[in-house]
Amino acid sequence: MTTEHHLAIERVSLSYGDLPVVTALDVALPPGKITVVVGANACGKSTVLRAMSRLLRPSEGRIVLDGRDIHRLPTREVARTLGLLPQSPVAPEGIVVADLVARGRHPHQKMLARWSNADDRAVAEALAATGVEDLADRSVDELSGGQRQRVWIAMALAQQTDILLLDEPTTFLDVTHQVEVLDLLTDLNRKRGTTIAMVLHDLNLAARYADHLIALRGGAVVAAGPPAAVVTEQLVRAVFALESLVITDPVSGTPLVVPQGRHHALTEVMV
Ligand SMILES: Nc1ncnc2c1ncn2[C@@H]1O[C@H](COP(=O)(O)OP(=O)(O)OP(=O)(O)O)[C@@H](O)[C@H]1O
Ligand SMILES: [Mg+2]
Repeated sequence: MTTEHHLAIERVSLSYGDLPVVTALDVALPPGKITVVVGANACGKSTVLRAMSRLLRPSEGRIVLDGRDIHRLPTREVARTLGLLPQSPVAPEGIVVADLVARGRHPHQKMLARWSNADDRAVAEALAATGVEDLADRSVDELSGGQRQRVWIAMALAQQTDILLLDEPTTFLDVTHQVEVLDLLTDLNRKRGTTIAMVLHDLNLAARYADHLIALRGGAVVAAGPPAAVVTEQLVRAVFALESLVITDPVSGTPLVVPQGRHHALTEVMV
């Protein structure tokens, strides 16, 4: 099962004032697949995700949703199709978890019929899927970093959009919760055909969970494709200026990047 929604950016240039971040960039999200974007700090990952979700207007080029310029589509239609979990979301002061997650339902509410059973169900499912039901009445301000991150993911899930963009969804999470969140997103992708695009810093999880991997450097695509083809020692050097060994992940069979570093090698490794 796949969604029919196509999201792409075409020859897009993005800048903040005088600072150009991206020039004439083309990126298309394969519908019904999981795309992961990797790249060094400040290379433009969040900027690209923000542009894809209409938060940033390109100075050149177009963001295209199902063949139409996203800036010409009604806001509500875009919001129902496409959800974004930003890198550093800010919760309204004092809001409790259940209310924050419920805000994910706003694009679905009709003018007159306000809150519906479907809204209730979507919120309950999202709270359960992310394991935060017990926090429902807590104030978001009072949560630990990892708890709060799971609440934000719950809000993103409650939107039930066909396309979900997530900027570092595993940030602040312990290793168990990182794997749980990525498994959860994979379930969503497989069961509902949700098209997912996310930024991850952990290359090994990126290689494991991505159908399509995009490596960015200086706002440009250095490589894109299936992780097995993209993640090589040369690519890691080009994108991260890091010497590494790329071996096979014994669990998933996908590439596993082992950084060399300057200390702790068992034997002198030739680089
Ligand atoms: N609101 C802003 N105003 C001005 N410059 C910005 C703004 N947001 C980002 N930048 C700059 O744009 C460039 C790209 O930033 P971006 O946030 O897209 O990087 P990133 O790849 O997501 O990095 P990270 O891995 O650290 O999250 C950086 O040089 C950053 O300083
Ligand atoms: Mg970022």
